[in-house]
Amino acid sequence: MEQENLKELISKKEIQNKVKELGKQISEDYKGEEILAICVLKGSFVFTADLLREVTVPSTVEFLAVSSYGASTESSGIIRILKDLDCSIEGKHVVIVEDIIDTGLTLNYLMKTLSTRKPASLKVCTLLDKPERREVDMKADYVGFEIPDEFVIGYGLDFAEYYRNLPGVYIKSDE
Ligand code: PRP
Ligand code: MN
Ligand code: MG
Repeated sequence: MEQENLKELISKKEIQNKVKELGKQISEDYKGEEILAICVLKGSFVFTADLLREVTVPSTVEFLAVSSYGASTESSGIIRILKDLDCSIEGKHVVIVEDIIDTGLTLNYLMKTLSTRKPASLKVCTLLDKPERREVDMKADYVGFEIPDEFVIGYGLDFAEYYRNLPGVYIKSDE
């Protein structure tokens, strides 16, 4: 795949440092407890893997797949659960791990759905936040980077399913 229309926004090193910081923060906040991390597939798989390796409290991880974007760079606004959790979250300290909050529709939907399942607590950790694009009120408890309204890829984020494996976060220009 051609990669020349990519401009680095956040480097691999900057991400590493931030992930360490977030892991430390979560470990302090949940001291004496354990967490259930929910990796929101597909975008969050890279971040979740790195973040959990920086978390020192006992943790388990579960996977949930949703999709709203399809092959477009614009959200369709329709959230589909492609794969639900395999287990109950009742009584658990749940941390939803996301790669990015854009319109907020995905997390808004997930928070609503998951909160009905009686977790002991429910928080959100996102690597990237694009507050300018918000369509519903949605704030994460842990945010790595606030970014401008540009279409970004890499570190789990895709364009038409490609580029998820890039080590940093890049702005993809159109041509
Ligand atoms: C992307 C991203 C977030 C969501 C954020 O997922 O990974 O999950 O969109 O957008 P929102 O705040 O506007 O809802 P996508 O639907 O592209 O699926 P993917 O993770 O499989 O790429
Ligand atoms: Mn996603
Ligand atoms: Mg996507």
